[in-house]
Amino acid sequence: MGDEVGLEFDPDWLGLAGSGVLIAGAGGIGSACAKAFMGAGARIALVDLDRERLESVSKELGPDTQTITADLSTGSGARHAVALAEKALGGIDVLVHAVGINLRKPVIDFTDGEWRKIQSINFDSAFYLAQAAGKSMVDRRRGRIIMLSSVSGLLAHADHAPYAASKGGINQMMRVMAREWACYGVTVNAIAPGYIETDLTQEYLSRDDNRLKLEKMVPVGRLGTTIELTGPALFLASRHASFITGHVLYVDGGRTLV
Ligand SMILES: NC(=O)c1ccc[n+]([C@@H]2O[C@H](COP(=O)([O-])OP(=O)(O)OC[C@H]3O[C@@H](n4cnc5c(N)ncnc54)[C@H](O)[C@@H]3O)[C@@H](O)[C@H]2O)c1
Repeated sequence: MGDEVGLEFDPDWLGLAGSGVLIAGAGGIGSACAKAFMGAGARIALVDLDRERLESVSKELGPDTQTITADLSTGSGARHAVALAEKALGGIDVLVHAVGINLRKPVIDFTDGEWRKIQSINFDSAFYLAQAAGKSMVDRRRGRIIMLSSVSGLLAHADHAPYAASKGGINQMMRVMAREWACYGVTVNAIAPGYIETDLTQEYLSRDDNRLKLEKMVPVGRLGTTIELTGPALFLASRHASFITGHVLYVDGGRTLV
């Protein structure tokens, strides 16, 4: 992965061919990103806690995909996954963190366990993974880290306290990592999607008139698709984004404008 931008059109315009990409989270967004990076000629390692999900995604992606089963909410699980991915890919050029859960209820009703579970899966995993992958990127003097944040990291959605806190935490942690690692050629950015239909949101969207209410809040008048996150992820991982670091890119159909 080079950082020079050529003047003439190049089929490997993104500069990602042959790159080693670790994607954490084989859900809706992670698997769409895996397909997009593979389409750009990258080599993929995909990590998730859910082995069945990994198997079904890797069937679609083909036999060259490395799959790793690990609980990323623990430091040891995340470091183990990074070590296996490094070995399989011969170095990690790009890390995409697309792991997360949500539970919607008022602040007063959350238990200690629910709070901790959401923080450990959403936020701790981002720290452990980026720390482990970032260490070797710093040693190699190159790398791209992209974390999936959310519009909830900015807006005060009711019934989202732990989720929103985990995303606000990701935004600020990402900025500090970006600052510390900029001089080593490692960029760290976040993508903050609005509502996208995946397993994370499906049940909520199918209840009552939730979908309609949410669509009305988005200036473009609809929810987003997983595909609409892949272009931003490829761009931030590409050589064209070599001067972009510490940025939260909202991919939300204008949701954060209103
Ligand atoms: N879907 C949306 O509307 C939306 C909006 C904003 C942000 N996001 C963020 O995007 C990211 C991906 O979300 P998604 O919509 O693809 O969700 P998803 O539910 O489809 O996928 C999440 C994946 O995380 C995995 N996971 C959960 N706990 C884990 C653990 N301990 N270790 C390893 N893997 C674990 C799950 O098995 C699942 O495959 C999340 O960070 C989410 O918060 C999603």
